[in-house]
Amino acid sequence: MKTVISTDRVAAVELLRKGDLVALPTETVYGLAANALNPIAVAKIFEAKERPRFDPLIVHLPNRDWLRRIAELPAGDRQLILKLADKFWPGPVTMVLPKCELVPDIVTAGLDTVAVRLSAHPVFAEIVGELDEPLAAPSANRFGRVSPTTARHVLDELDGRIPLIVDAGPTEHGIESTIVTIRDSKIAILRRGPITHEQLSEFANIVSVTLTQRISAPGQLPSHYMPTTPLRLIDSAEAFPSQTNRRVGLLGCGGAFRSPPQAFATVRNLSDRGDLREAAANLFRYLRELDALGLDLIVAERVPSRELGAAIMDRLERASHR
Ligand code: TXA
Ligand code: MG
Repeated sequence: MKTVISTDRVAAVELLRKGDLVALPTETVYGLAANALNPIAVAKIFEAKERPRFDPLIVHLPNRDWLRRIAELPAGDRQLILKLADKFWPGPVTMVLPKCELVPDIVTAGLDTVAVRLSAHPVFAEIVGELDEPLAAPSANRFGRVSPTTARHVLDELDGRIPLIVDAGPTEHGIESTIVTIRDSKIAILRRGPITHEQLSEFANIVSVTLTQRISAPGQLPSHYMPTTPLRLIDSAEAFPSQTNRRVGLLGCGGAFRSPPQAFATVRNLSDRGDLREAAANLFRYLRELDALGLDLIVAERVPSRELGAAIMDRLERASHR
């Protein structure tokens, strides 16, 4: 694929509408954007970044009205959330809030919360506004590398992997947005950034993340949905023995078990075609569905550990070691 650097916003909107990726400038760093409501498009982000695992992504809203469609505003914290939005949006603050049904599980890596922000960058704002759908966008670098602050940096990272980089010169802040979560009228800072502790403390008490239990801070605690049903990895569903008094669910990938073996109480196929992009897009949703059935065991077929398969296997391996 040829990667073009240009200022063509119309082309960017068209590509995003089709489910393709576009690198876009924000006021913090360049982001690698996909339509957040299209799980296959979001899977392409992980593929292009070569992330060996799935991380939850920030959802960038077209405007303030979208907030209530993407996130729940708990009654006790609503006023504080709206005050922070009034003060800092559009701008470099991301809020982690309970998610709405509309948000695909691959965007949040299966979490019940979603990170949302409203970018102040005029080019980003114009494109997401024209699209009128939220954009999932991590920083536009390959896994483990620094965030890009110019279109040229993005090209160095992702040349040949994405069709378009929209160039608007160097970004203003050069570091990623401040990430906060709001609990019981307090603010917890999950990632430091352009909006400071001091600025935030004018609105509420700031609690230390280490003291706040059960908050998934980026890179600190496992921030993934973990099934409560035991999960075991197998090579092939065909070879799995019949079960007499256990209800076993199968999570497979590919056409091999089109007629489900008798051994299983229920089956979810991540992708009939064995397509890893489609499999990644379905992974968290199917894990949740199987987990909700009260099964005795989930068995998951191994997928090839190449491309997105590595991230899928990482997730399945963690779920099986508990
Ligand atoms: O400035 C920014 O925030 C840039 C621009 C492109 O918007 N984006 C960015 O995205 O830095 P990324 O994916 O590189 O970092 C987002 C961080 C990740 O560390 C992720 O774990 C965390 O946000 N995150 C996302 N959703 C979360 C959630 N529901 N709970 C906790 N952390 C979350
Ligand atoms: Mg990043």
